[in-house]
Amino acid sequence: MARIDVIERGDALRGLMRIPDGFCGLLLTDPPYSSGGMFRGDRSQATSEKYQTSDAAKKPEFYGDTRDERSLVLWNTLWLAECWRILADGSSALVFSDWRQLANTTDAVQAGGFTLRGIVPWRKAAARPQPNSFRAECEYVVWASKGAVDRRPLTSAKYLPGLYEYAAPVGDERIHSTQKPVGLIRDLMEIAPEGCIVLDPFMGSGTTAVAAIQTGRHFMGFELSDEYCDAANRRVREIVRGGGRHRWLRALLRRSWCRS
Ligand SMILES: C[S@@+](CC[C@H](N)C(=O)[O-])C[C@H]1O[C@@H](n2cnc3c(N)ncnc32)[C@H](O)[C@@H]1O
Repeated sequence: MARIDVIERGDALRGLMRIPDGFCGLLLTDPPYSSGGMFRGDRSQATSEKYQTSDAAKKPEFYGDTRDERSLVLWNTLWLAECWRILADGSSALVFSDWRQLANTTDAVQAGGFTLRGIVPWRKAAARPQPNSFRAECEYVVWASKGAVDRRPLTSAKYLPGLYEYAAPVGDERIHSTQKPVGLIRDLMEIAPEGCIVLDPFMGSGTTAVAAIQTGRHFMGFELSDEYCDAANRRVREIVRGGGRHRWLRALLRRSWCRS
């Protein structure tokens, strides 16, 4: 069986097959989008070209980002069906996508067995303006569930926003070319109970793992790239060494104290 609170190096689909049924309480993942342009030639460029502006130091390449539309839906359906099996009944699946792959992602989520529940936009503060165009300033989180969502208005019920705004990581914070902001991932995790295991088959720089530690949850996940897997596990070790959840909460309290 795959291990808890460790990011394993290897292929997600093979790794997922080793996890028992109903083991995890949330799927939160940012798979390779295979995006970056309208044409096949655009998609098959290096990830450092597609997802980074020329002035930033290039990040290492990552895997799995050159599929065409049909093979992307097929592959997404394979791993999503495994995730459906692994999630407990009533759990949520949160899957990132951009505007180009949104329809493919919602198709694959449903083909994998999930019930589609909605789309949550992530507004990135700094998107490049383009002449005579609307800015592409959002990415999207496809929200789905395994079976019914508990909609009873109990005191323990959570009422979450339908839109999040966070700047993408920059400078020293940025390890991966498509890294997500840890604050955004922490906020999204609120859909799942504290203490549950959060599954991320495509860990990249380990943002999901960091957010899980900081919010009192466990994580399981995979990363195919040696370089990113090492970087993600280093990041996790640093968080754990620094006191994980408690240190982060203390910093947050200090910040709110300063503001008042
Ligand atoms: C979009 S990135 C995730 C970035 C991550 N959310 C972060 O904040 O750093 C997707 C990652 O999935 C990895 N990947 C691609 N195919 C994979 C596979 N079959 N199994 C495991 N990981 C894979 C890529 O190497 C890449 O690092």
